[in-house]
Amino acid sequence: MTSSASSPAASSFPHGFLWGTSTASYQIEGAVGADGRGPSIWDTFSHRPGATHNGDTGDVACDHYNRLDTDLELLSELGAGSYRFSVAWPRVQPTGKGPANPAGLDFYKRLVDGLHQRDILPALTLYHWDLPQPLEDAGGWTVRDTAERFADYAAVVADALGESVGLWITLNEPWCSAWQGYGSGSHAPGRRDIGAAVAANHHLLLAHGLGVDVLRTSVPGAQVGVSLNVAPIRAATDHPDDVRAARLVDGNQNRLFTEPVFRGRYPEDMLEHYASHSPGFSVVADGDLEVISRPIDFLGVNFYFPQVVAAAARRREASGAGFGIPVAYNHVAEDLGVVGVFHPEADRTAMDWEIDPAGLVELLVGLHREYGPVPMYITENGAAFSDYVGPDGAVHDRDRIAYLDGHLSALRESIAAGVDLRGYFVWSLMDNFEWAHGYHKRFGLTWIDYPTGTRLPKDSFFWYRQVVTTNAVPPLLGAGPGEGAGGDEPPR
Ligand code: FCB
Repeated sequence: MTSSASSPAASSFPHGFLWGTSTASYQIEGAVGADGRGPSIWDTFSHRPGATHNGDTGDVACDHYNRLDTDLELLSELGAGSYRFSVAWPRVQPTGKGPANPAGLDFYKRLVDGLHQRDILPALTLYHWDLPQPLEDAGGWTVRDTAERFADYAAVVADALGESVGLWITLNEPWCSAWQGYGSGSHAPGRRDIGAAVAANHHLLLAHGLGVDVLRTSVPGAQVGVSLNVAPIRAATDHPDDVRAARLVDGNQNRLFTEPVFRGRYPEDMLEHYASHSPGFSVVADGDLEVISRPIDFLGVNFYFPQVVAAAARRREASGAGFGIPVAYNHVAEDLGVVGVFHPEADRTAMDWEIDPAGLVELLVGLHREYGPVPMYITENGAAFSDYVGPDGAVHDRDRIAYLDGHLSALRESIAAGVDLRGYFVWSLMDNFEWAHGYHKRFGLTWIDYPTGTRLPKDSFFWYRQVVTTNAVPPLLGAGPGEGAGGDEPPR
């Protein structure tokens, strides 16, 4: 039997494969003072001078809170089977504890009902980084109480939305919360303390485990998972110091999460590396790892790019070996004694992230071998490019289509290699507040005109609509030079 890459069979996905898009509350909702919502660490952080690009904040964002109906229609138009969103904890419990705020819960009830009316499966993330500020004031993720408060919050959301949620995701990318929030300080709450980051790492995982327990009790039959930003970590050269550097980064980025969740233990090399940092792992109490390793129904994988690293002391040699200037030299990398490097020839997105779909295959196959047979969903994948609205009033984001096309091929390859992959969510349904990068980086399938809030589906939106309605990747059309308006060179 022969098949060509462009035949329908060769480009199609397993029956029932779930297609979706992702967003997160603080990145799209705006309306930060509406209906009793309390402040979150991202409100505080984004208002701190110099914390975000251009001083951007999520105060208004895409105004999704006030435009829910428009956005539900947008989702209908896309036709995807699922929508992943996050609940803003400070809308539901404005101070992070105590009774639920009915108006906050009502918003998510309306969202979930609107999704069901359109046959779209709600995929709900409980925590996508907007910690209620009062909890941060009491120590944030560095203290155990925050994990316990999370369990209470999970119970409130579970009781309100229960069976109507298709997929429950406890946490989004706890690595970012712990290591960017408390380690490098590039994200809220902006602390720069390695020992605090280790403690935050543990309490986030504990929150995950407690959340799983709550969901199992409150919503029998719930499908529960966690979304991790795991990535393949490659050594820039085969010099033992670079290989060691890559192993350390793999420990910090990947194994600090996968080992406790799947095997109920922290990796030895990480215990050793962080032993002298306080409070660090001293916060781990008896029984915590059993809670953290409660069985989950799926692993959410957020994939953007593989990382290439060298030993910090060998940054010059790494450049000599064909790799460019270190791209990530922050407090966390400094503590590990590593630098991130990039290949100067590689294609990159507007985030400077290397485009390498083969990295996704490597990642999924590796996870499957190590922790299989856990089912997986890609809960985020996508790219920022320098989009613009062309003279014809459309956004011809050919780069994004090519990026997504490459990664969908990687999914098919991974499935063929035996990975139990159940679905895929594009980051993001719409342009939004890209954290410290503000509104400057656009990841959406939909263009947002921020001054007016107008939604304009980009070419990638219509391309993805074809993917989700046919359960297959259409052949790439118009990829030749001069076809379409590009998306690579904005007009001056
Ligand atoms: C991920 C975040 C998501 C978005 C993408 C680009 O790390 O989970 O909110 O910012 O990156």
